[in-house]
Amino acid sequence: MEKKIILSGIQATGVLTLGNYLGSLNNWVEMQDKYDCYYMIADLHTLTIRKDPEELRKNTLALLALYVAAGLDPEKNTIFIQSHIPAHPALSWVLNCYTYMGELNRMTQFKDKAAKHADNINSGLFTYPVLMAADILAYNADLVPVGDDQKQHLEITRDIAERFNSIYGKTFKMPEAYIGKVGARIMGLQDPTSKMSKSAVNELDKILLTDTPDEIRKKFKKAVTDSENKVRYDKEAKPGVSNLMSIYGIIKHKSMEEIEKEFDGKGYGDFKSAVAEAVVERLEPLQKRYNELLESPEKLRAIYEKGDKKAREITDKLLKEVYKKVGLVI
Ligand code: TYM
Repeated sequence: MEKKIILSGIQATGVLTLGNYLGSLNNWVEMQDKYDCYYMIADLHTLTIRKDPEELRKNTLALLALYVAAGLDPEKNTIFIQSHIPAHPALSWVLNCYTYMGELNRMTQFKDKAAKHADNINSGLFTYPVLMAADILAYNADLVPVGDDQKQHLEITRDIAERFNSIYGKTFKMPEAYIGKVGARIMGLQDPTSKMSKSAVNELDKILLTDTPDEIRKKFKKAVTDSENKVRYDKEAKPGVSNLMSIYGIIKHKSMEEIEKEFDGKGYGDFKSAVAEAVVERLEPLQKRYNELLESPEKLRAIYEKGDKKAREITDKLLKEVYKKVGLVI
């Protein structure tokens, strides 16, 4: 039987958080043996918010290094840079003509970002989901592993694909979001009612993948909990503790019941340090590999050149089919 196709990506915007890692990258690593996987560095998407050009270039290679350091094997996966594949923006243009303003207007991420960057509500920010649809549909992906904040973008991708297929006959496969049961939404450590975000102003709210062990310990120590002093999973009544349990559970491969048992009779102090140590233990080797890879730009180049080549071959074929169907001379 043919392996199912996976595609996903992360924006090349500076350092990732533990939320990005547990919500996406960590799942990708677990999928690499079972599926035919395509993982890209989403650099075109980052242009929707103004960036320093040198910083973007640096972030792009750093993210590639992080993919590999987190455990993605370049021999098993196709790892590539989005802007190196001309079919992404080309297909995005075509799909833009099959997407309605009303649909894009409903995207909560657009509303959030437009509010945050009121001085630069460019049309790229508005059509961002269409480029994401092109990323996914260009590979005929079956599954797209993402955190649950991307669910709406997957829904619009399916709507666009369905519309195109119904006009021109089956062209695109219908992709599905693959969202982990736990960790789909890691919350802030200071405000456990909103997601942990790269752009959080309060440094204590987020764990960065490059944080030192002492920074990690300090942030968990200061994490907001509640006054019950009992490790018990209840997302509504105990959002802080439940979030810490999710983090611990993913890293230690433990269910919430197992964690409740493990910390039965123990207070939050013990629990928080156990969570911090689990995170430190996971991130230390990752950071070591990451720093080594950053020192070998030629290794990184070889990885993306290999990935780019394969990605280009696949998407050129599909783009031609789309161009032909809509009536362009090919
Ligand atoms: P981005 O770069 O914002 O986030 C990357 C991934 O991290 C997940 N994530 C989280 N998961 C759990 N808890 C959190 N607190 C948390 N914060 C972020 C996101 O859901 C995402 O999976 N548009 C995408 C990038 C993209 C893409 C694609 C993804 C571009 N093209 C095609 C899939 C397929 C984005 O901005 O992700």
